[in-house]
Amino acid sequence: MSKPVVLVAEELSPAGLALLEGDFEVRRTDGADREGLLAAVTDVDAVIVRSATRIDAGVFAVARRLRVVARAGVGLDNVDVEAATKAGVMVVNAPTSNIVTAAEHAVALLLATARNVPQGHSALKQGEWKRSKYTGVELAEKTVGVLGLGRIGVLVAKRLAAFDMKVIAYDPYVQAPRAAQLGVRLVSLDELLRESDFITVHLPKNKETLGLIGDRELHLVKPSVRLVNAARGGIIDENALDLALKEKRVAGAGIDVFTSEPCTDSPLFHHDNVVVTPHLGASTHEAQEKAGTQVARSVFLALSGEFVPDA
Ligand code: NAD
Ligand code: MLT
Repeated sequence: MSKPVVLVAEELSPAGLALLEGDFEVRRTDGADREGLLAAVTDVDAVIVRSATRIDAGVFAVARRLRVVARAGVGLDNVDVEAATKAGVMVVNAPTSNIVTAAEHAVALLLATARNVPQGHSALKQGEWKRSKYTGVELAEKTVGVLGLGRIGVLVAKRLAAFDMKVIAYDPYVQAPRAAQLGVRLVSLDELLRESDFITVHLPKNKETLGLIGDRELHLVKPSVRLVNAARGGIIDENALDLALKEKRVAGAGIDVFTSEPCTDSPLFHHDNVVVTPHLGASTHEAQEKAGTQVARSVFLALSGEFVPDA
C-alpha cells in the first residue's frame, strides 16, 4: 500500500523531516511560488508551511486529497482556517515551539533600540568612533506597554520585569487577577499609548488588530517612545510609523515583521533610529527543531485520525 504524501512547502528542520520520512512519502515545493504550490498540492494528504505560503480557498479547490494543513510555527494568519473547515481540512500548528525564541528576539530588538547597538556597530566597522551620537536610554524604572498578554507577551513581560521595568498591558481577553499575578497592570489601549516609554506588540494579525497602531494612536505616544513589533507586519501601520518618525513623535523602533514579506525596501529602512531584522523572531536552532518535530507529530496523529494535542 502506498504511503500518505506530505508536501513540505517551506524550510523544515532535519529532525522534523526525519520523523516524516519514516511514515510518509515526503515531497518538496516552494510555497511562495503560487503556481508551483497549486500544481504540487493536487494529490497530497498534508501540507506543511511556515509564514511565506498562503493557504486559502484557491488551494483547497485543487487539493482534493488534502486532509491536513500544518503550520510549523505559531501564526495562522497565512492559513484561511474558515475555508479549511469548509473543505473538511484540519489545521494544526506548533503553538509553543518558538515562543521563548520570539520573546527573546523582541527583548533583543528593544535593547537594540534603547542602546543603538546596530548603529554603533555599523559606524565602528566603518572606522567611526562615535560615542555621544549613540547615547541611549536605560530600561530600569521605565514603563513598557505590552500589547497582547498571551504566550509570548507574558514571556516578554517577565523578562522585562527583571530589568526593573514597570509592565502594563492591553489585552481585553485577559482577566485582571491573571495579569496581577504576573505583576502586570492591565490598562486601556489609549492609557498604554500615553504612559509607555517602550511598546512591544504581541498580537495575532486579524481584522481587529491590522493597523491597530495607526496615525491616531501614534499621536498619543510620548515622543521618547520606542516601539517593537516582532508579531506581524501591519499591526503597526508602516506609513503612520514612517510619518511619526519623520515628525519626531517617536524616538525609535525595532521591527522584525513587515506588511508584505519578503521586504527588501521600506521607508522605515531610511531612519537611522529604526532597527530591522528579516522576520527572525522564530529563527533559532532550538525553535526550528521544536517546530519541525511538533508539526511532524501532529501530522502523523491527524493522518492517523487521532486526537492532536495543543502543544
Ligand atoms: P497568543 O495567542 O498566545 O497571544 C495573543 C494575545 O493577544 C492573546 O492574549 C489575546 O487575548 C490577545 N489579543 C487578541 N486580539 C487582541 C486585540 N484585538 N487587542 C488586544 N489583545 C488581543 O499568541 P502568541 O503565541 O503570543 O503570538 C503573538 C504573535 O507573535 C502572533 O502574531 C504570532 O504570529 C507572532 N509570532 C511572531 C514570530 C516571529 O517570527 N516574529 C514568532 C512567533 C510568533
Ligand atoms: C510564527 O508565527 O511562528 C513565526 O512568524 C515564525 C515563522 O513563520 O517562521
